[in-house]
Amino acid sequence: KRVAILISGRGSNMSALLEAARADDFPGEICLVLSNRPDAKGLETAAAAGIATLAVDHKLYANRGDHEAAIAEALDAARPDIICLAGYMRILGAGFVARYKGRMINIHPSLLPLFPGLHTHERALQAGMRVHGCTVHYVTEVMDGGPIIAQAAISVLADDTPDSLAQRLLHAEHQLYPHALALALNGQVSMADDKVVLHGTSR
Ligand code: GRF
Repeated sequence: KRVAILISGRGSNMSALLEAARADDFPGEICLVLSNRPDAKGLETAAAAGIATLAVDHKLYANRGDHEAAIAEALDAARPDIICLAGYMRILGAGFVARYKGRMINIHPSLLPLFPGLHTHERALQAGMRVHGCTVHYVTEVMDGGPIIAQAAISVLADDTPDSLAQRLLHAEHQLYPHALALALNGQVSMADDKVVLHGTSR
């Protein structure tokens, strides 16, 4: 199975997926890493790992639709079975989401449906949460609202700051995303009618 990854920056989740995909028994291979920002550090990391990379700079396009059409053209040429958003920081239009619905997933740094959107660590601390976490979900037209594939939770410590919480959560993200991607690749989960369907004995 073929996996394309969309990034905008550091790409630490992308790196975790790259690392997981090196295992012989991982049910997929990374066929493309694409960024909307040419200076994304993750592009260098992927290229160094011998993965095909592409920058489709959103600043070079008149509008979101043209930019997304260029991304779709590049994605379709790579023939991915699953598309992973990993720190991809652009809102995706309904047409793009519809085109890849059921085969595009995202990782969000909160226990959705709590804290969709940005600044999730600050908001979790502000809310006095005792646990925080991350979610991998199918992408639908509702931002951070798609059906959930898998989640991981961590404890909030008394002296946590948004940064310490974010750092600790990243480690959980790097475990969760490869696990969730494998479930989607091997058909243990799928999406139908905007709901996740669990097949077999996926946890
Ligand atoms: C992470 O918190 C991830 O959950 C969110 O973007 C942040 C940066 O991710 N999607 P990465 O290091 O670029 O993978």
